[in-house]
Amino acid sequence: MNWDDAEAAGTDTDPAGRLVGADADGEDSAVEAALRPKDLAEFVGQPKVREQLDLMLRAARARGAAADHVLLSGAPGLGKTTLSMIIAAEMGAPIRITSGPAIQHAGDLASILSSLQEGEVLFLDEIHRMSRPAEEMLYMAMEDFRVDVIVGKGPGATAIPLELPPFTLVGATTRAGLLPPPLRDRFGFTAHMEFYEPGELEQVVHRSARLLDVTTDRDGAVEIAGRSRGTPRIANRLLRRVRDYAQVRADGRITREIAARALEVYEVDQRGLDRLDRAVLSALLKLFGGGPVGLSTLAVAVGEERETVEEVAEPFLVREGLLARTPRGRVATPAAWAHLGLAAPQNAPGATGQTGLFEA
Ligand SMILES: Nc1ncnc2c1ncn2[C@@H]1O[C@H](COP(=O)(O)OP(=O)(O)OP(=O)(O)O)[C@@H](O)[C@H]1O
Ligand SMILES: [Mg+2]
Repeated sequence: MNWDDAEAAGTDTDPAGRLVGADADGEDSAVEAALRPKDLAEFVGQPKVREQLDLMLRAARARGAAADHVLLSGAPGLGKTTLSMIIAAEMGAPIRITSGPAIQHAGDLASILSSLQEGEVLFLDEIHRMSRPAEEMLYMAMEDFRVDVIVGKGPGATAIPLELPPFTLVGATTRAGLLPPPLRDRFGFTAHMEFYEPGELEQVVHRSARLLDVTTDRDGAVEIAGRSRGTPRIANRLLRRVRDYAQVRADGRITREIAARALEVYEVDQRGLDRLDRAVLSALLKLFGGGPVGLSTLAVAVGEERETVEEVAEPFLVREGLLARTPRGRVATPAAWAHLGLAAPQNAPGATGQTGLFEA
């Protein structure tokens, strides 16, 4: 898969302005810096990753050495950028931030690498989108702290080896599967970020509310957390919308009722489904009896592009166990009927006596 394919298949599919989209929008970028936890102790959830990183960073600090290279993989908005900054902060090291798409040529990478200080953290976001020549230069830099700088062009070009100070590469990717194995193998530590539990998101909401100076009671935070799709970025975004509602329509304090009313206005339901998600489910249930139905037919029924249904709505519906992709088409699960408050007909897929459909 080349660079453009990777981009086309990338996760930047959330339509602008989608309240429950996991990708950062302009407003997120502006406030996220203020809401980012600054050290591991402040970082909510991901207990395994936190403990493993803590051990690794402590050991490196005790040895007075740069930490091993770290690969952070996981869906958008789960805290990869945040963790990279925490790694630098915990090591007391400066951080340099760049991204795969920003490195067009190996020379771009060479100039970054050759200007690193000893122990510096180099954060390479979207590392799966780096060009092949840059990737190959990175192999050597990661393993031997050395790069070959090419001087001149054509047959007369010569490679001048350049020693690099020890540094820590922190790579982030939403698509670990796209990383070539030789690159993946050069990371000493790989952290897989999981979606957050509702209780953890509740802590994220409380923490952000404190920083934004909004009063939120326990049930208000529970309500927001439950609709946040396991994603801190979405929790923070919903919190800001609920805060607006609380200021305009109430006394500014966030309670369960205020949160529920606000998110009803924004069409985000109790499970975090938005208008598009519900339109897809509703068509599947009401027009096609729960399926199986082909993707194209389903897309026409909701008046959306095939890709929108497949890439924007379906992943979360599948993750939530509301929809299944089977060889015969899209199928609603019994939970989908329950979620829309509909009674599943006797012959619906997954109903008693109906077997075989979900064994895809
Ligand atoms: N564990 C956490 N505890 C508290 N807040 C968090 C946590 N993880 C993420 N956040 C919040 O969510 C926001 C998004 O996180 P971040 O930018 O690190 O995600 P990301 O994984 O880098 O996303 P992307 O893939 O889009 O780059 C941050 O501003 C931060 O406030
Ligand atoms: Mg990020």
